[in-house]
Amino acid sequence: MNIINARLRGKAGLFRIELQGDRIAAIEPQADVVAGSAVDDLDAQQNLVVPPFVEPHIHLDATLTAGEPKWNMSGTLFEGIERWAERKAITTHDDIKTRAKKTIGMLVDHGIQHVRTHVDVTDPKLTALKAMVEVRDEVRDLVDLQIVAFPQEGIESYANGRALMTEAVAMGADVVGGIPHFENTRDQGVSSVKFLMELAERTGCLVDVHCDETDDPQSRFLEVLAEEARVRGMGARVTASHTTAMGSYDNAYCSKLFRLLKMSGINFVSCPTESIHLQGRFDTYPKRRGLTRVAEIDRAGMNVCFGQDSIVDPWYPLGNGNILRILEAGLHICHMLGYEDLQRCLDLITDNSARTLNLGERYGIEAGRPANLLLLSAADDYEMVRSQGHALVSVRHGKVLMRRTPAQIERFA
Ligand code: FE2
Repeated sequence: MNIINARLRGKAGLFRIELQGDRIAAIEPQADVVAGSAVDDLDAQQNLVVPPFVEPHIHLDATLTAGEPKWNMSGTLFEGIERWAERKAITTHDDIKTRAKKTIGMLVDHGIQHVRTHVDVTDPKLTALKAMVEVRDEVRDLVDLQIVAFPQEGIESYANGRALMTEAVAMGADVVGGIPHFENTRDQGVSSVKFLMELAERTGCLVDVHCDETDDPQSRFLEVLAEEARVRGMGARVTASHTTAMGSYDNAYCSKLFRLLKMSGINFVSCPTESIHLQGRFDTYPKRRGLTRVAEIDRAGMNVCFGQDSIVDPWYPLGNGNILRILEAGLHICHMLGYEDLQRCLDLITDNSARTLNLGERYGIEAGRPANLLLLSAADDYEMVRSQGHALVSVRHGKVLMRRTPAQIERFA
């Protein structure tokens, strides 16, 4: 299969991309627009061809459960955790698999082929983890799935929390998670981070911690995570998700913190729609946005990307799998609608996210890499966001996985 009349981000002109089997065989410049010559030519129509979108942070075990058995009436993160504990008590293996696969279908429909899902392991039976390990195998033709062993109710604060984390890794979790701001005490938060970093280092897992997901400016576990990563030389393999407290830190502390963050080399995920919904809930006015400092992290040369976090669950009632919706909202919320940000905004849902997931040479439009790519509906990043564009075709392992027909509009005057 060949893709013709393609634009590539950061390069002038048009390109022909030759696919052979499940690999990109060659990328050649085109002198001019060409007509398709073979039945299997895909015409990009002078629009962008990019590697697949990445979902770096979602909870597939909880999706599509909002209101079951009760709605989150306060809209806070902490009531969400309470509501989820009730729903978790009645989940079954099949229930989790069915909802996760339905959600993965929604992600695939929007051009996502790489997913990192957090899976709640604060459950003596590890029901969700067992289900998601099976799902990971069963959806290989659709997405590459990374599973995070996520201690929703804490590691130190939950009965046998450490043993459950260790067992989850032994059962096949790819990534070690954490939630230090939810532990009962500051000391437990610190010891949970040290425990999970040691577990990851010992087992070769990646790390992705729900870190300081609160408006509390005294929640300062990010410095602990970053220092653990720096000392162990693991920064590139470590991600701090949310870090919303950073939106409430004073600038003097944040200036010192950024020095450590840069030295550590860790990655950041922000979930802007989820955070602006859950945070700021204890404020009257002025009301905080409740997000981490996305633009400042990016300007400082550190790696940051956007995720959806939830689709119709106790924490967030909306969502449809479209990461471009998150990108547009995030650019607004983070004051990133400047010209230069718009020129490269797709980084936040493609290359930056791939780096967070440590995808390495399994990702990117380059000869020799996997034939996984998207044909988009616009010619550049700016126009893609402005026009609320879509992934029109998703190619995976050299075959068309999804094709979207844009809405047709008829005008009569
Ligand atoms: Fe999350």
